[in-house]
Amino acid sequence: MPGIVIVGAQWGDEGKGKLTDLLAEEADVVVRFQGGNNAGHTIVRDGDEFKFHLIPSGILYPGRICAIGNGVVIDPAVLIEELEGLRRRGVDSAGLRISANAHLIMPYHVMLDTAGEARLGELEIGTTKRGIGPCYADKAARLGIRVQDLLDPKILLQKIEVALAEKNVWLERVYGVPPLNLEEIAGNLESFAQRIRSYVSDTSLLVDRALHEGREVLLEGAQGTLLDLDHGTYPFVTSSNTVAGNAATGIGIGPNRIDRVLGVTKAYVTRVGEGPFPTEIEGPDQERMRELGGEFGTVTGRERRCGWLDLVALRYAVRLNTMDALAITKLDVLSGLDPIKVCKRYRHPEGAVFDEFPYHQSILHSAEPEYEELPGFEGDIGGCRTEADLPREARDYLEAIGDHAGAPVRLVGVGPDRDQIVWIGDEPTLKAA
Ligand code: GDP
Ligand code: IMO
Ligand code: MG
Repeated sequence: MPGIVIVGAQWGDEGKGKLTDLLAEEADVVVRFQGGNNAGHTIVRDGDEFKFHLIPSGILYPGRICAIGNGVVIDPAVLIEELEGLRRRGVDSAGLRISANAHLIMPYHVMLDTAGEARLGELEIGTTKRGIGPCYADKAARLGIRVQDLLDPKILLQKIEVALAEKNVWLERVYGVPPLNLEEIAGNLESFAQRIRSYVSDTSLLVDRALHEGREVLLEGAQGTLLDLDHGTYPFVTSSNTVAGNAATGIGIGPNRIDRVLGVTKAYVTRVGEGPFPTEIEGPDQERMRELGGEFGTVTGRERRCGWLDLVALRYAVRLNTMDALAITKLDVLSGLDPIKVCKRYRHPEGAVFDEFPYHQSILHSAEPEYEELPGFEGDIGGCRTEADLPREARDYLEAIGDHAGAPVRLVGVGPDRDQIVWIGDEPTLKAA
């Protein structure tokens, strides 16, 4: 009855989409449990690229049940666009299920996100401006609009009216932008309601039953551990809990229904948006890594900041999620870089040494990485399919990562395509991941 969580170990974009697609071949149900269309998950199959923002990365398998859980925030227009995109490419989305309890991102959430960032100026978080923070804030303030509200036009109108009365004050008086019209918002949502009505279901019950019947359920995380609202680099985080512990809440099952946690990390580190990043590389070397890795955001197209692998942060992520195993992606990008650096501890300018990820924000901001240099490897490793195919130095690098992080490396990405994967150790099955 495995329930397996796939979770990002860094600041997002680790390759969760690729890993989910790969492992979904053996799964019966794939779910998203948090985040919204701030996520951009890429799948490449035989050179064909798919990018998902809301729909779980299992949808490419005909008939696979893919559930958007209660913990996700849904922008209706984005979901419809995603469904349309799949239809145009001949992908059947009949397996989609949407939680009636998921919250909706409303036009005012997007406006407030954008205006809020502009107001912060230099202190901005660098959000994706998709309305994620304001939507989760309304959920906590009990002013949110949920998927189930769409099924009753009268209730929907009432709820939007209550929320909008407050939002329009903010929009007009605080941010100096024109107010929004109630009927227009409700009217737009009605056509969305028609479109998604058939997908709405009790996704908590669905997943619980699937697990009881011994089916395999993959829970696909979005963002990454260091963007977690409680455990990440606050305030430079997203507005949901991204760690594996939230997978249960975000779909509505108990924590002991989760059997395994697979952490996904790049062989180096990237970050989009503002906030501390101890191992960020300075100058032209950063640009080189960005070019080699194609590190431009899936959602906003922004340049991703690049740095060396941070084992202090990775060990923290392994602990916070109780990761059973690691998948290391983009190892191919490091080919030709010699030496390869890894950070095993931080040093504060006043001399203190940190082997563990510091909880204090000011320490993290001024933390300097202490690097260990490992020998690099050369050549195209994109064709490697077994551990033995990998250069000796690459294998040593993987071993050093697993040893220090405290979780074994089970999968290694050697290129963007679905097939470009190396399994380390036992036979390549979902249960072994
Ligand atoms: P996600 O948000 O965690 O799903 O990751 P993204 O899709 O935003 O970013 C990961 C990027 O790396 C995508 O463009 C993937 O196609 C690509 N990718 C994933 N694994 C590998 C790999 O092993 N090697 C290379 N070169 N690219 C990879
Ligand atoms: P996936 O699932 C990378 C970052 C934003 C910003 C911060 C807050 O593709 O890994 P938000 O819009 O969530 O309020 O922005 O979080 N961020 C991501 N970075 N990958 C993501 O998702 C991200 N989702 C949000 O860049 O720094
Ligand atoms: Mg992404």
